[in-house]
Amino acid sequence: MEEGKVIDEALQGQATMVEGKKENSKKLFLESYGCQMNFSDSEVVASILAENGFDTTNNSEEADLVLINTCSIRENAEQRVRNRLKQYNKRKKQNPSLMIGVLGCMAERLKQKFLEEEKLVDIVAGPDAYRALPGLIEEVEGGQKAVNVLLSREETYADIAPVRLDKKGVTGFISIMRGCDNMCSFCVVPFTRGRERSRDPESIVKEATEIFEAGYREVTLLGQNVDSYRWNVSKKGEIIDPEKPTVNFAQLMEMVAQVNPDLRVRFSTSHPKDMTDDVLEVIAKYENICNYIHLPVQSGNSDVLKRMNRGYTREWYMDRIAAINRIIPDCSISTDIITGFCGETEEEHQDTLSLMEEVKFQFSYMFFYSERPKTLAERKFEDDIPLETKKRRLQEVIDLQHKLSNEFNKNEVGKVQRVLIEGFSKKSEDDYVGRNSGNVSVIFPKEDAKPGDYVDVEITDYTPGSLLGKIVKS
Ligand code: SAH
Ligand code: SF4
Ligand code: F3S
Repeated sequence: MEEGKVIDEALQGQATMVEGKKENSKKLFLESYGCQMNFSDSEVVASILAENGFDTTNNSEEADLVLINTCSIRENAEQRVRNRLKQYNKRKKQNPSLMIGVLGCMAERLKQKFLEEEKLVDIVAGPDAYRALPGLIEEVEGGQKAVNVLLSREETYADIAPVRLDKKGVTGFISIMRGCDNMCSFCVVPFTRGRERSRDPESIVKEATEIFEAGYREVTLLGQNVDSYRWNVSKKGEIIDPEKPTVNFAQLMEMVAQVNPDLRVRFSTSHPKDMTDDVLEVIAKYENICNYIHLPVQSGNSDVLKRMNRGYTREWYMDRIAAINRIIPDCSISTDIITGFCGETEEEHQDTLSLMEEVKFQFSYMFFYSERPKTLAERKFEDDIPLETKKRRLQEVIDLQHKLSNEFNKNEVGKVQRVLIEGFSKKSEDDYVGRNSGNVSVIFPKEDAKPGDYVDVEITDYTPGSLLGKIVKS
């Protein structure tokens, strides 16, 4: 059985093509794995290297440099990358001048070890070291191996205009913060991404304005815990520079929503312990902030949540769900779930299923627990749930989610929804696919509309993964 199949898409490597300066003579093949943050970082990397001699190519055969932006979140995410590296290493044997680099979370986690384990890797650069890439490449061209895995307390790449790698040109991502200070006991991210830091709000609004002017119609604001975004305020709540304004996440969203009413705003990820009503009120106030919240619960049992060090109980989570339903009627909610965490009993697992039924999630990313080196859970608890049990529980969670998604989508039939067209559907060039405000894919005959347009679609049918419909003329 595959680990929750819904995550497959997020983990697919994605190759990308960009043209930089006219005089660029070398080719970069960039492949990204992991979360949206990694895809967004790859756009920063492409931008830095476009200024330093490299155009990107979508044909790895013609590359002078292959960079793999990696993820460490679960063991199988790392395994995938190791397999890819083996393939590139074979190619390097035939073409010794090919440079191979590893970026992102796995680079940060394994550091120097990467050079010892994977002998044919030339460059190892952690998530805060991308400005150093041109120098690292020079070292390699001079015949050495090059590593930079320094984490920073300040780096946000705020001044770098990312090269948009998604060629469709309708939806884009903007990183608003980096790192994470939460220390959930199962999670490797605080070790691979370093301390939490927020990005200058002016640079965020500028990027949102530029992306809108370039024809994009949707931005997703990214952070591991967007609700703890804060500018000019210390962690203790003190104002840092009295001359300057302070900005929290609710205020930042408002600033981005005001860029243009035709620019949709999404965000990810919210943390149940920090998501406040003022954020929900801003979502309700602005038509162009989507009625969709990704609120990872991880488990429906308070003891498991305590062992996970998540900072909330089941009751607290349900209170946040009640607040969403009260303040934003018609908001769709998705989540992340881990099955088989250390010590999880059958009753505790049942609590996850019952919470799912209570909330009626529209969608979930579902995983079985994978122990990660150095994390609190690895040091404190035994990874004692047998793999078959973890997988059986995961399958129960997947089956229930399938049923809930079906019910949710069935409920949408007959409604007319505003959809932003993203492009052709996977199956046919006669149909378009876009998403409604609740982040559900909607497929419909294209008629005379075009990608980037908003259309009103009447929902006529559904599958567990998408809604089907037809454009209604106003
Ligand atoms: N910052 C986000 C999550 C980032 S990681 C948050 O706090 O919600 C994305 C998801 O991967 C997590 O929500 C969790 O469900 C899953 N995950 C993280 N570490 C994991 C591990 N060791 N084993 C299995 N799943 C894990
Ligand atoms: Fe990991 Fe928790 Fe931070 Fe999310 S909030 S990135 S799960 S430590
Ligand atoms: Fe993976 Fe790093 Fe993102 S571990 S999920 S790429 S922050």
